[in-house]
Amino acid sequence: MSLKQQVDPEKLPRHIAIIMDGNGRWAKKKGKLRIFGHENGVKAVREATEASAELGINYVTLYAFSSENWRRPKREVDTLIDLLIKTVHSELKTLMDNSIRLNTIGDTRQLGEKCYNALNLAKDETKENKRMVLTLALNYSGRWDIEQAMRNVAYDAREGSLDPETIDQDVIKQYLTTAEMPDPELLIRTSGEHRLSNYLLWQLAYSELYFCPTFWPDFRKEHLYQALINYQSRERRFGQISEQIKK
Ligand code: FPP
Repeated sequence: MSLKQQVDPEKLPRHIAIIMDGNGRWAKKKGKLRIFGHENGVKAVREATEASAELGINYVTLYAFSSENWRRPKREVDTLIDLLIKTVHSELKTLMDNSIRLNTIGDTRQLGEKCYNALNLAKDETKENKRMVLTLALNYSGRWDIEQAMRNVAYDAREGSLDPETIDQDVIKQYLTTAEMPDPELLIRTSGEHRLSNYLLWQLAYSELYFCPTFWPDFRKEHLYQALINYQSRERRFGQISEQIKK
């Protein structure tokens, strides 16, 4: 039985979040510049997206540029942003052909006008696509997300459109950048690092975490199937005990 056949279609997560890590180390191992790793990461993005859409996953959210990534050398940041613009253009047809809607979370304005416009154009072109939502987290961090939510909660409370007494977790969720999506049931991080790195902090509260040693540019559909098979073997208890889940 192939790995794909071992994935139970009845027990799929609706939302997979991915920390694409290891591009730089992959390139270094080959004696190349870090950007060579990012360029080769694009193929892995395509593989993960395609495999998810084919299986019927509804949401995939990729950590493509964190708020902390600005600390990298300017040349790497500029080249990453250029690569993003180029990729958004070159992948648009594939997104349309597969009915995938492109979405972003994070403060994309700061990525520069050219990148911001390219993203908005692609988001607009794909907005009617229904099969899957591909979200790129760009200039994003989990704490930033909570911070902007809290600010807007405070504005609305001050203005009178939100009663502080009614603020609960469902209300807070509506103010997060991920308001329209279910929380990810599965987080995948590549490259052998075991950290959340300020990703989707609120949303990952109950997610299953899967770490694999593969560097992101080597990530293929089979790696996604493996992550899903592992996820499906776990028991998600949400604070209950095993016997309660099995009832
Ligand atoms: C992490 O590897 C990767 C990134 C910060 C960028 C990811 C970008 C891409 C895969 C390219 C284009 C993406 C899209 C969505 C079009 P790292 O640089 O942190 O690697 P290291 O940990 O080995 O240094």
